[in-house]
Amino acid sequence: MCGIVGYIGRRNSLSILMEGLKRLEYRGYDSAGVAVINDSKDINFFKKAGKVKEIEEHFDPDALSGTTGIGHTRWATHGAPNDTNAHPHFDMGKNIAIVHNGIIENYKSLKRKLESAGFSFSTETDTEVLANLIEFHFRNTNDFEKAVRIALTDVEGTYGIAILNKKEPDKIIIARMGSPLMLGLGKDETIISSDAAAIINHTKNVIYLEDGEMAVIKRDSFQIKTISDEDIFREVQKIEFDLTEIEKSGFEHFMLKEICEQPDSIQNTYRGRINFETGVVKLGGLENVSDKLFNAKRIIITGCGTAWHAGLVGEYMLEHYCRIPAEVEYASEFRYRNPIINRDDVVILISQSGETADTRAAMKEAQRLGATTIGIVNVVGSTIAREVDAGTYIHAGPEIGVASTKAFTSQLMSLALITLMIANNKGTLSEKQLIEIASEVKVLPEKMKHIIDKRNDYKFIAEEFKDAKNFLYLGRGFNFPVALEGALKLKEISYIHAEGYPAAEMKHGPIALIDENMPVVFIAPKDSTYDKIISNIEEIKARKGKIITIANEDDMEISNYSDYVLRVPASVPLFAPILNSIPLQFLSYYIAAARNCNVDQPRNLAKSVTVE
Ligand code: F6R
Repeated sequence: MCGIVGYIGRRNSLSILMEGLKRLEYRGYDSAGVAVINDSKDINFFKKAGKVKEIEEHFDPDALSGTTGIGHTRWATHGAPNDTNAHPHFDMGKNIAIVHNGIIENYKSLKRKLESAGFSFSTETDTEVLANLIEFHFRNTNDFEKAVRIALTDVEGTYGIAILNKKEPDKIIIARMGSPLMLGLGKDETIISSDAAAIINHTKNVIYLEDGEMAVIKRDSFQIKTISDEDIFREVQKIEFDLTEIEKSGFEHFMLKEICEQPDSIQNTYRGRINFETGVVKLGGLENVSDKLFNAKRIIITGCGTAWHAGLVGEYMLEHYCRIPAEVEYASEFRYRNPIINRDDVVILISQSGETADTRAAMKEAQRLGATTIGIVNVVGSTIAREVDAGTYIHAGPEIGVASTKAFTSQLMSLALITLMIANNKGTLSEKQLIEIASEVKVLPEKMKHIIDKRNDYKFIAEEFKDAKNFLYLGRGFNFPVALEGALKLKEISYIHAEGYPAAEMKHGPIALIDENMPVVFIAPKDSTYDKIISNIEEIKARKGKIITIANEDDMEISNYSDYVLRVPASVPLFAPILNSIPLQFLSYYIAAARNCNVDQPRNLAKSVTVE
């Protein structure tokens, strides 16, 4: 979604704002802008449609000097992505400048009221309404903080906002309802951001704002209050990652870097959590709900997109290894279909960002209905991580590429760890089986590395298929969700239409699509479904489809049925999806790169969708 940055201190703010915007651009990238208060207490600004780098080429830095400023990178919700609708937005007199992430739902009625009070508007955005509303209350109160407070009580919807007022030039006011915001505390300076990525270069000390809170930030002090004016004390927390983790480190794209990081990220997910001698898993973050988890009658897993695919694999894991009924729900549907949730149900929320609006809403609904909620989250300190009853961080490190890769495999590992923990408690896996699985965990990074080392093999296949119009991805059992994920990866970064199906379902419709132009990717490890999947491959071959197979290294038979074989080491069903996903990530990456697509920032997408 949109990214917000702000600076108040003794340095010139522009370079800090621009650097921050570049680091936040993965959150939204259709337009960007900055507003800065100069020494004469005027607000200067520049905003434009396009990428941050392009925008930088168009402004005069001297015209934007000043030690207090705000910036924004946008992913359009209201109004087209053009220069006018780019943030910052202003009240009609240009006293107030505001950057906003979220949606003001009642902006039309507020706009009508303001129009009848003589205010006029130059954009289509909800944010401009908010700027004028603050100005309206400022005229009545002559108090910036009070004006923001009153305006926010009029507002329905979600926001993370940072506001400048040229009549009170030595402060920035920020407020949060549903969209993340944090303060980075430096020496005599504060950096504000929606994401730690814009702060880490300056300080590791941060304070996360909670929903319903605002902060008045001056050069050398800040005060956090609720929007209804109660004082808040909040502990300073440390950002846990380093700058190097959010840089490309020589890779052409973040996505490629993140695919290649997986042997490390997966280790970070299980490190210290599994005893390799006994196979016993301990997840500290779940201790306070372990009774609920071990006695759950049913586990519901929810999330969106890639996280939902991870949840589907989780369903197979929990039912197969723990014999607990499990269900997977799209978070976006969950609360609208009046779900039947009982107090002994456990609801697992999976989210890389921990900020996805639909997943947050599903969490709230599950909590309202009395279920125990567990988060599987990557971003430390994010909203879902803070608000669930218990949780486990996946520790995959910052994921900047918009297409999720390492977070997915780490989500699978977290689900596997939960599965092993429950299976041990319930006795559905014997000690011997647990030890065998644990020994497989130990060799997993090496097996992943082996796949990654062969990545150049994929370039050839990518060249061959880069002009395909459609792709089909087919898998069975644990690898059906892997097929869905492979198809999602391809369509989101290369814009080639792709569908994932359970392989046997293909006969019930999609087979009509098969001809000599249709590439079909099969995930065919040597497991209990192998013979069946060979039959499915033959059905495609008989109709002249092009077959690309993900198969195990010792499976020589598969070459008889396939045009191309991408080989992965064999593993137990619990971990095979982790290994089988990697060739699919590479395939989509190299196809998108061969088509000259913007791999890290695909069109129309944003890294985390914080609006419904
Ligand atoms: C796809 C992708 C999205 C996210 C989805 C949920 O590559 O990244 O489908 O998985 O938007 O995001 P999180 O996990 O942040 O809740």
